[in-house]
Amino acid sequence: MKEYLPLLIVGAIIGTISTILIIAYAAIKDKKESMGFERNIKDVELLKRLLRYAKPYWKSFILVAVVMIVSISYSIVSPLLVANIEGIVKSGFELADVFWRVGLYAGILVVSLVCTYIQSVVLQKTGQKIVSQLREDTFKHIESLSHGQLSQIPIGKLVTRVTYDTNAISMMFTNLLVNLVQNCFVILGVLIAMLCVNYMLTLMVLCFVPFIVLFTVIFRKFSRKAYRKIKNCTTDINTYLSENLSGMKITQIFNREQRKIEEFSEKNEKLYKAQRSQLLVFSIFRPLVYLLNISSVLCLFFLGCKGYLDNIEFLGQIVSSEVIVAFYMFISRFFNPIQSLAEQFHRLQSAFASAEKIFTILDIEPDVADEADAIELEEVKGDIEFKNVWFAYNEGEWILKDVSFCVKANDTVAFVGSTGSGKTTILSLLCRNYDIQQGEILLDGINIRHIKIDCLRRHFGQMLQDVFLFSGTIRSNITLRDEFDDDKILEACKYVNADKFIGQLTNGLDEEVRERGNNFSAGQRQLLSFARTVIHRPEIMILDEATANIDTETEILIQDSLHKMMNVGTMLIVAHRLSTIQHADKILVLSNGQIIEQGNHHELLTNKGRYYELYNLQYSKEQMKTGN
Ligand SMILES: Nc1ncnc2c1ncn2[C@@H]1O[C@H](COP(=O)(O)OP(=O)(O)O)[C@@H](O)[C@H]1O
Ligand SMILES: [Mg+2]
Repeated sequence: MKEYLPLLIVGAIIGTISTILIIAYAAIKDKKESMGFERNIKDVELLKRLLRYAKPYWKSFILVAVVMIVSISYSIVSPLLVANIEGIVKSGFELADVFWRVGLYAGILVVSLVCTYIQSVVLQKTGQKIVSQLREDTFKHIESLSHGQLSQIPIGKLVTRVTYDTNAISMMFTNLLVNLVQNCFVILGVLIAMLCVNYMLTLMVLCFVPFIVLFTVIFRKFSRKAYRKIKNCTTDINTYLSENLSGMKITQIFNREQRKIEEFSEKNEKLYKAQRSQLLVFSIFRPLVYLLNISSVLCLFFLGCKGYLDNIEFLGQIVSSEVIVAFYMFISRFFNPIQSLAEQFHRLQSAFASAEKIFTILDIEPDVADEADAIELEEVKGDIEFKNVWFAYNEGEWILKDVSFCVKANDTVAFVGSTGSGKTTILSLLCRNYDIQQGEILLDGINIRHIKIDCLRRHFGQMLQDVFLFSGTIRSNITLRDEFDDDKILEACKYVNADKFIGQLTNGLDEEVRERGNNFSAGQRQLLSFARTVIHRPEIMILDEATANIDTETEILIQDSLHKMMNVGTMLIVAHRLSTIQHADKILVLSNGQIIEQGNHHELLTNKGRYYELYNLQYSKEQMKTGN
């Protein structure tokens, strides 16, 4: 009994550690459920959907599989070669023989290295292609969502999906899946080789396997928990960042920097702690597996050397030094892939979690979509009719109540009313940014739901309240990537009076536009949006006029270009200066989502209703301004 004391000590240590871990595992059970994280899409389903993306590249994966089998052979054959050293010694030491063996060993090593290289190059390429496709699909899908759906998802979350989550999936294709398969093969191969060399010692090594499995199961639970935390914290920080970076100017204006810094450090601290707890999990797991590795080597040497030195049989088989060397090498080749397997399963889980998040976005059905039999409209006259339209952004809170009006082709119709009365809403319904709940909107007598959305929007030119310029140049912002020659662009600019300020820029049309056009004034942005609309020659123009931040000079330019644009086609306009719309063919006065008056300027003035009040209010204000 005393003889086997070292073995007993090793067994006791491993047993104690296992017990502690099992207790910890049982203790943490309740907490996990309270996290309320349940995957909605099953792993099999996720894998199927991911593999669909990999399908076009099946040839590359077959190549990788072939190369992989070759590279695995190194792990299995090399210990056998080294162990054979005893054979050389016994059969009379010949230098040529040694060289031959070293050469063979080096040859196998080189082939295996080359294979590993080919494998990783092919995989990286394929993986990147797959993920770039996924990224593109996600972006395309986000584009197809309606305004209502988009406003429900924070931008930071979408950015995280397109960047961070696709990256996690890229990892899966570039090394996870292949490593998983490769490790399984290595484990199997090494096991078979060990069995062939000495099945008794193999059994000894196998005694440690249940402990590895146990540790892995426990480890997975802890690491999964830590990982979820990291993921949630990352999304949280991204969402916070994207909102606060765009609102940084407001933060500075209102002196809220300190408060924001505190909020940010709180989130940052949370992410740090989550990362740390994951590291902690890994830092416990890795040494534990290593402990098993070392223990089995100890047992090997103890049992093996004992058997060899005493020249007795160990459990029926004679153990030679050759066998011990081979096993020493086999053991690390056996334990390393097992340890990696556990970590790779963990990463696979995280890739699945990312995949689930991406597919959840991809599964959102766009709520404004083409009907199956939607038609194309080549020519549009520009007749518009609202028939008893009811609309609510949120169910039950009606913003438009039974709105009906018509607009004849080439007419100019203006919407007037206090803030929040529903003017912008009416304009955005026309292009189906949202779908209405009741009633009909007709374009040339056709319900706009029966017209393909991209076709519908092609006939509308929208100039919205907050002009959005993309980073790029003035040219790219006017043409929006369509092809126009410079004469056409300049003609459009001239038409809307934007030519003067563009002419003063050092680079003219090639002047850089920074993010959101923040290097241009509000008036200049407005004029650029006019030019952008006019150049695309839409049959119907929609203009939601911005009032703030415009100097008198620019305002005169804008008024003038507005008058010109009214001749281009049908025009629907929200104007805050009533003088702009005096010549409109029809003026609709809105209040609380209902049309309360309509008619032209003179009719409405003689009516002495709401329009008359508004007009007098503005008129007297202007007189006060000019001092008359
Ligand atoms: N995206 C939205 N989600 C929910 N409610 C909205 C949204 N946009 C506007 N509203 C609400 O609809 C009403 C009408 O808004 P809007 O059409 O922008 O008014 P106007 O352009 O006449 O000032 C307002 O009460 C506003 O709060
Ligand atoms: Mg508005």
